[in-house]
Amino acid sequence: MIHLKVPIAKTYFDERDFELIREPLKSGWVVQGAYVKRLEEAVARFTESPFAVAVTSGTAALHLAMVALGIGPGDEVIVPAFTWVSTANAVEYVGATPVFCDIDPETFNIDLEQIESKITEHTRALVPVHLFGLSCDMSRIMAIAEKHDLMVVEDAACGLGARFGGKHVGNFGDLGCFSFHPRKAITTGEGGMLVTSDEKRYELLQALRNHGASLSDFARHDSKRAFLLSEYNHLGYNYRMTDIQGALGVAQMEKVDWLNKKRRERATVYDELLKNADFLKIPSCPPEMLHGYQSYVCRFTPEPVSTAVLPDLNRRRNDLMVALEEKGISTRQGTHAVTLLGYYQNKYGIRNEDFPNAWMADKLTMALPLYPQITDEEQQYVIRTIITEYKGIR
Ligand SMILES: Cc1ncc(COP(=O)(O)O)c(C=O)c1O
Repeated sequence: MIHLKVPIAKTYFDERDFELIREPLKSGWVVQGAYVKRLEEAVARFTESPFAVAVTSGTAALHLAMVALGIGPGDEVIVPAFTWVSTANAVEYVGATPVFCDIDPETFNIDLEQIESKITEHTRALVPVHLFGLSCDMSRIMAIAEKHDLMVVEDAACGLGARFGGKHVGNFGDLGCFSFHPRKAITTGEGGMLVTSDEKRYELLQALRNHGASLSDFARHDSKRAFLLSEYNHLGYNYRMTDIQGALGVAQMEKVDWLNKKRRERATVYDELLKNADFLKIPSCPPEMLHGYQSYVCRFTPEPVSTAVLPDLNRRRNDLMVALEEKGISTRQGTHAVTLLGYYQNKYGIRNEDFPNAWMADKLTMALPLYPQITDEEQQYVIRTIITEYKGIR
């Protein structure tokens, strides 16, 4: 029997990436410069956002979003319980309080029915997360935000290429935050981007990522009297992306449509192959959404799920993941429930059962290998092995 090695993700680099990444090295300009600017323009165009600001990671984007919106001590920000930890960490960085909301087990996104019960007089903002590349229902989120006069930061870390009702995610709220980590649609190694339609906020974000400076080094370098430093009217950070990353990002954005198309096609192949594996629930995608498939995340549900049977189901899912690993197939839990993590449990006295759907998602999700260049043979091997190995799991 063939025995392939199938990783969870693979970056896709071609000659164009190699060509552009050399350019900053040849010119000698390696800090934030012309390529970062070009990447910002490309992302703004692709997401149909008026303004984009590159930073060092999706986490840095979320942090700057909190700073730019003036969120701070005494404020509450509603975040989903099942998301990457940095969605909540960004709220902590500014001294505000993340208020967790459970998720919808169908979509893994924040449960729209529960958001309003979390709103208090201290709530300032909502952070919907478009998890794994599936948009939240942004019309309902924006209606809640308007009704309660709340700001909205979209965590679109996984969402490049994802749309709701035809509109690209990141554009619905006050700010949208993307990640270019290697498991995302495009990569710059590490990297992130904020998008906004507000010009004042755009200017503020540019200063905040550059120590609070009124002018970037690149702009200053090009101007007369470059010997004078900028004004510093904000407490800023060094969240500048390098031009080496920017150049890679430009080359990646040139093929972003193709990269997204391949992910979607490959997700459809899994949907089809998994018809014979009723113990795995495939990712759902409501008709008004265009899924980005940053990850292809299934739920291990060989029987009806409840917290009573959760330990046993979790053990069986893990046994299956171990068996797959032994056959060269990498899988991952979808992401973690932040409400199960020590820092948050200890600080806020959270118990697992306070967010049952996030808890179950943490223990039962399984991301399958997905990347634009995955082959039919690899996908068939993954599913065939899953079905065979599942039979041996008791
Ligand atoms: C939902 C979500 N938010 C935020 C981030 C943080 O992005 P980065 O890794 O670029 O800091 C990630 C990345 O994994 C994510 O999945």
